[in-house]
Amino acid sequence: MSDLRDLLAGVAARAADYRESVADAPVFPDDTSGVREKLGDLPEKPAPPADVIRRLADAVEPALVASTGPRYFGFVTGGALDAATAADMLATGWDQPAFNKVTSPAGAIVEDVAGAWLKDVLGLPSHASFGFVTGGQGANTVGLAAARHHVLARAGWDVERRGLHGAPPLRVIANEERHATIDRSLRLLGLGTDAVQPVRADDQGAIDIAGLEKALDGPAIVCLQAGNVNTGAFDDFAAATEIAHRHGAWVHVDGAFGLWAAAAPALRHLTTGLETADSWAVDGHKWLNVPYDSGYAFCAHPESHRASMSLTAAYLTGQGDGGVRAPGDFVPESSRRARGFATWAALGELGRTGIAEMIERCCALARRFAEQLTEAGITVVNDVVLNQVLVDFGDDTERVIEVVQRSGECWMGATTWRGRRLMRISVSNWSTTEADVDRSAAAIQAARASVASSG
Ligand SMILES: Cc1ncc(COP(=O)(O)O)c(C=O)c1O
Repeated sequence: MSDLRDLLAGVAARAADYRESVADAPVFPDDTSGVREKLGDLPEKPAPPADVIRRLADAVEPALVASTGPRYFGFVTGGALDAATAADMLATGWDQPAFNKVTSPAGAIVEDVAGAWLKDVLGLPSHASFGFVTGGQGANTVGLAAARHHVLARAGWDVERRGLHGAPPLRVIANEERHATIDRSLRLLGLGTDAVQPVRADDQGAIDIAGLEKALDGPAIVCLQAGNVNTGAFDDFAAATEIAHRHGAWVHVDGAFGLWAAAAPALRHLTTGLETADSWAVDGHKWLNVPYDSGYAFCAHPESHRASMSLTAAYLTGQGDGGVRAPGDFVPESSRRARGFATWAALGELGRTGIAEMIERCCALARRFAEQLTEAGITVVNDVVLNQVLVDFGDDTERVIEVVQRSGECWMGATTWRGRRLMRISVSNWSTTEADVDRSAAAIQAARASVASSG
């Protein structure tokens, strides 16, 4: 074998070894103190690639978090499906800049196909445009940029040309429990967080519809949520969109993880009216279980989407599109990873029924968590409508979470919701089983008992 073949085969074997053992390894690393030393100083001289890779893997593997494994329940991370992982490795090997069909016909065409499949499976309008972005943050930014263009154009203002100085005021009406990335997108887009007019959330964290109607007055973007980041609650899209559109507002839906409910027949009722919105943000790297660096922005107004994102340059014109859209016209980057391969592979591995089954299974596992903890006398705070479970241990919450995290059995994070410090459990990994939930629920109960006995 050539050196290159050896190198890549060795890396594939190492990644496979890791993935095959991840379910049995401690979920969080014990001791990461030696990593910097092992990475060493900037070398003066070149080194053989195989040595470099061996040193890298030996140095960092002890500091990896088993977030791709079945008992990691923090942050709604998802795992990475086998085909999607392998396709992403191919994307690296092929090294395609997926800017347009000239820089990579393969990169452009696969996004075209995978984007259409995503719209189909998520029940979004077939005419919607889409961009493959870095994640939910990127997708929210693109959706809100298209919104900014559209709403201001209707008010007679060309924001791409004139900027925001002197523009008509543009307000953003959003759930008080919106995700923090909405605010960062507004900062990046020059709208600023003061543009937000927060609307009260109901007892489960969905936007209060009467409050929304009251807040609407003048050019506005309404931000809705499919899947409250704590509780998993859904806004009432049908009612909210009808009201927002009656007032001439644009409706953006942050559905980083919750939008996947639309792909599952047993959960689709949570998303009724979703398709009437104007833009949508969803992650691939969360619940579709695509490796990291995968999100999607969809827009029901392709011209506003393109106007907010596209660029042109002398060396890019006159090459025709040959019927293939330029992915770079719908995202904020120019040169970029060919993200379509991994998404196409995830959709191909699962198919429509496999996606529905995975989403429904994760929700059933979340309910199993809630049932077992409740039976053990532990308080579950939210209605478990999706994959999120909020757990209250009173004054012991922080310490119970710490003990669970240190146990290496499983990992769940902490959150503050309605003034209470809570454990937050998110089930979003394709490989999590009932046995993983049972083992993790037992670890939580053991942690609670040990905290109680230590006084
Ligand atoms: C509701 C919601 N929106 C946006 C995001 C941001 O997504 P990403 O981390 O992929 O940028 C998240 C991530 O947790 C989320 O849960």
